[in-house]
Amino acid sequence: MYYPEEIVEEVRQRNDIVDVISGYVRLTKKGNNHFGLCPFHNEKTPSFSVSGPKQMYHCFGCGASGNVFTFLMNYENYSFVEAVKSLAQRAGVTLPEVEYTEQMRQKENRRARLLEINKEAAKYYYYQLRAPQGKSGYDYFAKRQLSDETMKNFGLGFSNKTSNDLCLYLKQKGYSEELIRDAGLAIFNERYGFSDKFWNRVMFPIQDINHRVIGFGGRVMGDGEPKYLNSPETEIFDKSRNLYGLNFARTSRESSFILCEGYMDVIALHQAGFKQAVASLGTAFTSGQANLLRRYVDQVFLCYDSDGAGTKAALRAIGILKEAGIIGRVIDLKPYKDPDEFIKNLGADEFQQRLIKAQNSFLYEIGQLEKAYDLTDPAGKTRFHNEIAKKLCGFEEEVERENYIEAIAEKYHIGYEALRKLVFSYASKTGMVAPAVRPKSGQQEKKRTAEDKEKLSQRLLLTWLIEEPGLFEKVKKYLSPEDFTDELYQEVAGLLFDDLSQGKVNPAAIISHFTEEEKQQEVGLVFQTSLEEMQTRQEKERAFHDIIVGVKRNSYNHFTKKLGSDVTALARVIEGKKALEELERTHISLEQG
Ligand code: CTP
Ligand code: MN
Repeated sequence: MYYPEEIVEEVRQRNDIVDVISGYVRLTKKGNNHFGLCPFHNEKTPSFSVSGPKQMYHCFGCGASGNVFTFLMNYENYSFVEAVKSLAQRAGVTLPEVEYTEQMRQKENRRARLLEINKEAAKYYYYQLRAPQGKSGYDYFAKRQLSDETMKNFGLGFSNKTSNDLCLYLKQKGYSEELIRDAGLAIFNERYGFSDKFWNRVMFPIQDINHRVIGFGGRVMGDGEPKYLNSPETEIFDKSRNLYGLNFARTSRESSFILCEGYMDVIALHQAGFKQAVASLGTAFTSGQANLLRRYVDQVFLCYDSDGAGTKAALRAIGILKEAGIIGRVIDLKPYKDPDEFIKNLGADEFQQRLIKAQNSFLYEIGQLEKAYDLTDPAGKTRFHNEIAKKLCGFEEEVERENYIEAIAEKYHIGYEALRKLVFSYASKTGMVAPAVRPKSGQQEKKRTAEDKEKLSQRLLLTWLIEEPGLFEKVKKYLSPEDFTDELYQEVAGLLFDDLSQGKVNPAAIISHFTEEEKQQEVGLVFQTSLEEMQTRQEKERAFHDIIVGVKRNSYNHFTKKLGSDVTALARVIEGKKALEELERTHISLEQG
C-alpha cells in the first residue's frame, strides 16, 4: 500500500460521498439514497444512485459502482494515489511522505513518466517557436492573427526542421527510446532509424481537463499533406474521451458549450471571448465525448464547417448529443466556412448574434432533409411530409412531440391536424411512439456459466451480509472466508467477517483496502449484486438457505479436487461434508438475534 490504510480511511471518511459526487452530478434525494443521471453512460432517466449510509455509488444501468475514490478515478481519470491526494487536499488531511512499494511505483511511474515526457516535449516546442529557428512558425500564427497571449494560453509551439532534435533532447533528459516512442513522440523506421514524429510543423499541445499535456496535433505551415498530424492514442491519450479546449471551457461558467471541428476554430473562438468552445481531436465526435460534455452542460451549440462534409458531421453529432440527453443547436456561419473565418470577417459581436439565433437541431435536420425533395411536385411534397412524420415519432415525450408538430406545421405550412394524424398513423404502424427500452446491464445479457453461478452465490452472500449484518451470526456457523473460493472474494470475505465480528459494516472501506483499480471496481460490484425481489419471508428464507448451501457445496467440491495436493484440503472436505449434511436438515430462520 502506498499510504497507510488508516490514512486512506481517514481521507475517505472525511469526504462524504454525497457531497463529493454532488459536485459533479445533480442528485435528488429519494429515501436513503440520492439519484442522478449516470456520468459513466448515456441515459435520460436517472439510474445512478449514491448511498450516504453505505458511502457507495451504483448505477443500475451500466453497473458502475464503488466508493468515493473509484468515483474520482473514473471521473477524473485519476490513479488511486491521485484520487487519495486530491480528496486529502479537499478535506485538509496532510498526507505523510511514504515509501512506494515496487509494484505501485512502477505503475504510478509509468503514467507519471508519460505525462512528464509530454510536458517536456511541449516545453521544448514552446521554446522552439520563440527561438530564431521557429520564426516561420511564429510568423504563421501571427499571420493567422493569433496574439502572443493566445499562443501562450494554448501553449502553442513549433517542431523545427531537424528530424531528431526532440529525441536527442529527451534522451539527454534521461528518457529511454522506448518511452519516447510509447509516448507517441518518435517513430522507428528501417531506413532512418529513430526519429521525431513531428517536424517542420506548428504544434498544438492537447491537454486533459486537468491541464496536463497528453498529446499533440501538428499542422503544416502551408499546403502539404497531411494538413494535421496527430499523436497516436497512448496509455494516457484516449481520443474518444477528451476534447480540445475542455480544460478551459469547463471553468468558463457558461451554461452551454460550443462544439467545433478544429483546433484553430477553438483557438479563434477563445481569443474572441468564447471560452466555452471545444473540439474533438482529429477524429469524429463520439458518445464518450458527449458524456463528458454532459457533466458540465445540457446544451451544445454546433459550429461545424458550412460545407457538405461539415453538414454531414453536424447531423451525426446531433444524434450523438441527443442520445446523451444534450440539446443541440446549430449555428449558421454562412457565408463563411468556419468560425475562424467568420470571426475574422464579421467579428465577435456578430458571432454572438448567430449564437442567439442558432437553430434548434431538429428544425435544422428537417431543413437539411427538405433539400432532398422537390416541393413543387405534389408527390415530392407528400414524401417529404411523410418523412417528417416519421422523424416526429422519435419524440417519446408527448408534450415535446406536440410542440414539434406545432412548430413544423407552422413552418412548412402543413395543416396541424393533418400532420398530427400522419404522425399517429406512422406511430401505430411501426410502434414507434413507445418508451425507449432501457439498456440492460451486462450482467443480465451474459449467459451464466457454471463458474459464473458459483461466483454469483458468493457475491450474493456478501451483498446480503452488508444489507443485513444481523445475519452474520447464522452465516458464520457454516461458513468461513476460506469457503469463498474466488481469490478476490475470499480476501473481501476475510475483511468483511473481521468487521462483522466486531459489529461493524464498512463496505466502502473494504473497497479502498485494495489498491489496484481493476480490483476496486470488482469489489465495488461484489457489494452491489442485486438480490432478487423476494416477496414472502418464506421465499427469502429459502433463497438464503440455498445461497449458503451453494457456497458451501462449491467450497466442498473445490477442496475435494485439491485432495492430495493441498494439505489443508482434507480437513476442509471433512468439515464441509458435515456442514452440508447439517444444512440439509436445518431450517435457517431470518429472525435475527
Ligand atoms: N484534421 C486532422 N487531419 C487532417 C485534417 C484535419 O486530424 N489531415 C483534424 C484536426 O483536428 C483539425 C480538424 O480535423 O483541427 C478540422 O479540420 P480543418 O477544418 O481542416 O482544420 P482547422 O482546425 O480548421 O485548421 P485550419 O483552419 O488551419 O485549416
Ligand atoms: Mn477549419
